Amino acid sequence: MNTLRIFALLSLTASFLFAAESPRSRENFDLGWSFVKGDPVDAEKLLFDASEWRELDLPHDWSVEGPFDPNAPAGAPGGYLPAGIGWYRKAFKVPENLEGRRIFIEFDGIYMNGEVWINGHRLGKRPYGYIGVEYELTPHLNFGGRNVIAVRVDDSRQPSARWYGGAGIYRHVWLTHTDPVHVDHWGTYVRTPEVNEQFATVAVDTTVTNDLPKDQKVTVQQEVFSVEGAILAKTTGTIKVSGKGEAIAKQSFRFPRPKLWSPDSPNLYTVRTTLKTGDQVRDIYESPLGVRTLRFDREEGMFLNGEPIVMRGMCNHQDLGPLGTALWDEALERRLKMMKAIGVNALRTAHYPHSPEFMRMADKMGFLVINETFDEWRRGWNFVDGQLVSSPNDRGKARYGYNEYFTEWHERDLIDHLKRDRNHPSVIMWSIANEVPEAQKFGELETVQKLVKMVHEFEPTRPVTAGINHIHTANETGFLEHLDIVGYNGGGGSCFLYEEDHERFKDRIIYASEVPHSLQTRGEYRTHTNYREEQHEIPNLTEEEVFQETDAWYESSYDNAGVRINARDSWHLTSTLPYVLGEFRWTGFDYIGESGGWPRVLGNFGIIDLCNFPKDTYYFYQSQWTDKPMIHILPHWNWPGKEGTVIPVHAYTTGDEAELFLNGQSLGVRSFSEANPYHLEWLVPYAPGELKAVARKNGEEIAQTVIRTAGTPAKFVFETDQTQLDPRERDLAYLTIRVEDEAGNFHPKADRWVSIQIKGPARILGVHNGDPLNHEPFQSRTVKTFNGLARVILTATTGEDIVKKNENRESGEIIVTARVRGWESQELRLKRTHEGTEASVFPPDNSTPRPTDVYDEGVPPVD
Ligand code: GAL
Repeated sequence: MNTLRIFALLSLTASFLFAAESPRSRENFDLGWSFVKGDPVDAEKLLFDASEWRELDLPHDWSVEGPFDPNAPAGAPGGYLPAGIGWYRKAFKVPENLEGRRIFIEFDGIYMNGEVWINGHRLGKRPYGYIGVEYELTPHLNFGGRNVIAVRVDDSRQPSARWYGGAGIYRHVWLTHTDPVHVDHWGTYVRTPEVNEQFATVAVDTTVTNDLPKDQKVTVQQEVFSVEGAILAKTTGTIKVSGKGEAIAKQSFRFPRPKLWSPDSPNLYTVRTTLKTGDQVRDIYESPLGVRTLRFDREEGMFLNGEPIVMRGMCNHQDLGPLGTALWDEALERRLKMMKAIGVNALRTAHYPHSPEFMRMADKMGFLVINETFDEWRRGWNFVDGQLVSSPNDRGKARYGYNEYFTEWHERDLIDHLKRDRNHPSVIMWSIANEVPEAQKFGELETVQKLVKMVHEFEPTRPVTAGINHIHTANETGFLEHLDIVGYNGGGGSCFLYEEDHERFKDRIIYASEVPHSLQTRGEYRTHTNYREEQHEIPNLTEEEVFQETDAWYESSYDNAGVRINARDSWHLTSTLPYVLGEFRWTGFDYIGESGGWPRVLGNFGIIDLCNFPKDTYYFYQSQWTDKPMIHILPHWNWPGKEGTVIPVHAYTTGDEAELFLNGQSLGVRSFSEANPYHLEWLVPYAPGELKAVARKNGEEIAQTVIRTAGTPAKFVFETDQTQLDPRERDLAYLTIRVEDEAGNFHPKADRWVSIQIKGPARILGVHNGDPLNHEPFQSRTVKTFNGLARVILTATTGEDIVKKNENRESGEIIVTARVRGWESQELRLKRTHEGTEASVFPPDNSTPRPTDVYDEGVPPVD
């Protein structure tokens, strides 16, 4: 069950159980919006005619709809995709019986410059695209009648970031109604200042808002619930809240013998805060609780619940590959599961607040989160507060990046981020910056001092960090002394300074916040090392380059391409230096943008490609970070014309040795040694056929793998990872197309066009093949396999296609047919399990009002 569904259920349960006592109701408000690309005049007004606009459901990213264009203003950072201005509108009814309630709309994220109106009244504008914002609608609503929310999104100044930001209302939207006496937005602060074997002290500060004119004596009750619903601890207090004011109730109580939270056992509880005046329940508000202790030691590293732990981390951007930044909870969950499967226990939210769903999943699945707020402060290298101050050719941040907004918005953005996420046990550090030039070249200390102080005062339970590159220069500016923990990004060779700096700076605690930056393209190989900023020797694997034919835009998957240091050497440093708290590689997944130049449109740093196919390096981490019996070998074994050429074959395994066989002949056993602890190697004169590797541990076989040279591509396999799609849960199906020869061997080089046809209530959300040079639009009905594989992502939600084009909206059969010219077509049968969506307190209003209707209903005239 995905998070969205859980939330819907929670709010339904709450409304059902407590309807009589007027508690809070929080409802998802994603469905049934109208959208137009462009900037029509008067679109914020109540009476504007938007009937020609496109109908769609949120979350939505218009940028990912393409097309790719080498002249797109977003350029390489934005993946050559369109940006611009867009508008969203939604007309809805507010039931009359809600009069007297406080009604709020909450946007989890609008990229960017989201400006919001209700019934023509402007509620505000928020430039930063990654932070949620709540507006109160109450005074402007037409109770019992028609209301219109209008949102203008302005992403036209490009590039607005160094990566792909997407464009639109790309996260969820919520409508909440509460009593006038209620818990404020993000209004609880839950922590456990004392944890021992017998109990934890739970401290909860609750901001209580009283919108009534009279003072109120409010009873504040805190209860800790287990997942099963048992009450495990509670306390009650009272607080006086003056009329039209707010007050903070500070409570603390004992929770006996809590199960501790950790990545391996993410034990979670819920704190339920109930507000009452007399016998009347005014509000019920829930916050997550995970009990854990953290200690950072400059010599011994990091301790979680008293046990040493090394962070095995990944940095990721938020885009979900072919879906762009549009948040599909299931797509995010799939990605986090892939991280979990290779033993990742920590994630860095590069370089901005990720979605609330991400935070909830991190708590639930067990990830330690370095929670980052900014990539830019006032300076974008050559820009300060948006003004050009030096050569535009200087290396830089984004031309229209956050430096334009920092001065006005940073306090609000930072505090809101802390408020939003402070109750999540997964958050272990606040990262106030990534590679800000203020740290090094310019040595400006004012901002770091200010931000660190702000975090310490507002949320003192976690240390403050930042990801810093060119540490050798930052070491001279005094900047780093202000951080509690220093994050070493690889840039400028910082990853080679751990030992020296540990000696030199006696108070410094360090971890690798962004190392290594290795590059790899799925299924591509070179035996010669290809490094940017070479400072560290990675020997060539052969004297002559074996794979001369590899396209210059592709990167080798032998862990010999990248920036400064490779995956194996980086992990070696991290795992052997006890004081390095852990490492966060750049990145887990390929991401749209930061491509390095046309025709490439993706960043190729991921150990998993853009559409979730693992690359070889994925298995390197699995071999180091899990105990799962496994062996993986590379490269593939389809090298016609290279008969007799010596090809290095590498294995990653959790065994202690492995034996390789070519066509049944043993090529010998290789074991790990101190000199060679991370991969096993055989130099194999190429002959087509079968390559088999057997992994052993303590002499016992634990795993084996076989790859075979494929003959002529002759067919394809078409598979789905899910056959039942519940639209209410926004279920997705990830379909795989895999090319094979006649005998059923995977063909690692076959590129074939596939066309997809769907019958029934489903639609394509995205297609891709992982190729960084792929320019086929993400929402196309055709996709070409790349190195033998392609992906199609489907949904059965009531999006625009289904509502408009599908007559049969009943639960129904979905038939997906894939065709490749000259080959037998393949069919998949899926089922949509439910029709439509759940009833809303705020139903859509599809009427087209005349001015007189509206005035009759009591809405004040709008200018
Ligand atoms: C780092 C930066 C990342 C990404 C990476 C690419 O310096 O923090 O956001 O740009 O380089 O190499």
